[in-house]
Amino acid sequence: MTMLGVLGSTADAVIAMNQGGLVLLANGAVRQMLGLAPDTVEGRPLLEVVDYGPLRELFVKGTPGISELPLPDGRIAQASMVQVVTPFGEPVGLAVVLRDITLLKNLEQMKNDFVNTVSHDLKSPITVIAGLADLLRMAGPTNPGFEKQCQDIRDTAQHMADLVTDLLDIGKIEAGLDAAREPMDLVPVAEEALRIVRPNAQRKTIELRADLPAEAIVTAAPIRLKQALVNLIDNGVKYTPSGGKVTVSAAFSAGGDGAGTVTIRVSDTGLGIPARDLPHVFDKFYRVKSTATRDIAGTGLGLAITRTIVESVGGRIRVESVGGTGTTFTVELPVARA
Ligand SMILES: Nc1ncnc2c1ncn2[C@@H]1O[C@H](COP(=O)(O)OP(=O)(O)OP(=O)(O)O)[C@@H](O)[C@H]1O
Ligand SMILES: [Mg+2]
Repeated sequence: MTMLGVLGSTADAVIAMNQGGLVLLANGAVRQMLGLAPDTVEGRPLLEVVDYGPLRELFVKGTPGISELPLPDGRIAQASMVQVVTPFGEPVGLAVVLRDITLLKNLEQMKNDFVNTVSHDLKSPITVIAGLADLLRMAGPTNPGFEKQCQDIRDTAQHMADLVTDLLDIGKIEAGLDAAREPMDLVPVAEEALRIVRPNAQRKTIELRADLPAEAIVTAAPIRLKQALVNLIDNGVKYTPSGGKVTVSAAFSAGGDGAGTVTIRVSDTGLGIPARDLPHVFDKFYRVKSTATRDIAGTGLGLAITRTIVESVGGRIRVESVGGTGTTFTVELPVARA
């Protein structure tokens, strides 16, 4: 194994320049990361062959240490610059190692967004509860708003409790620490989910229809599958104006290799989801912002949980929607093998 072999195989880009500014070494990864062909830069003055500003600056400054370097294609690299010295300590040039840290940066960003949203969503209701309690104390139990203020405190606390439960659920399912999976019949679970949402549908005079087979055996945790279906049906009812229709169907289809799939569809005749929002609706806390959805309550976690549940049992979920006409969520689950 040679040093050059190692340098040639690593995914990190390595560039070394001598005191006179000539590129002495550029490994294979510089092509992938910086779009430079190693053999056309080696032996030539760095400032002549590299026209990418941030990299030129890095070498012109030549400060040893770690920094971040934006890459030409929008990725982000960690740049670690060292002074190259002889065994006698004489400086002979500079070398930089670039490592793609885009994924890490994205994760960090997601974590920050998540913490910001959670702290906002948990903190503002606490302020509401504390404010209402102060109000109650000042106005005393005989004030005419007493009942209503107590109810508001109760509702706000319930909202927080729901949010915390949702967050804990996502965490548990993602960590694989959830309820045990077993072969189960989807049909009674779907019927139970329909039963849970039916009162809301009736209140809004929305027709709730089911088209279910006699039996559909999948491998999942019944309570989680029910939760996923309730989320989808509840959305259908929530985002469909009065007089509309929500349909839940399930059907079996045989796959080529003898494996089968159960396809569940929840479709509605409601508001629809604008095309620009479609790619994001499964993200945690994502809600469509429009005048039509402004007064509909929710935290934007329902679909994130649903997707986590579906994917944790090897299934897939997708959404199709036409603005103003309706939305269809399709869940495909592998049939449990006997
Ligand atoms: N059937 C649907 N029709 C139209 N828009 C929908 C539908 N289902 C989801 N959406 C949009 O996707 C967003 C995310 O849905 P999700 O269920 O994750 O959150 P939510 O319903 O806002 O809150 P909750 O956490 O209470 O479920 C919703 O805010 C809504 O804008
Ligand atoms: Mg929802």
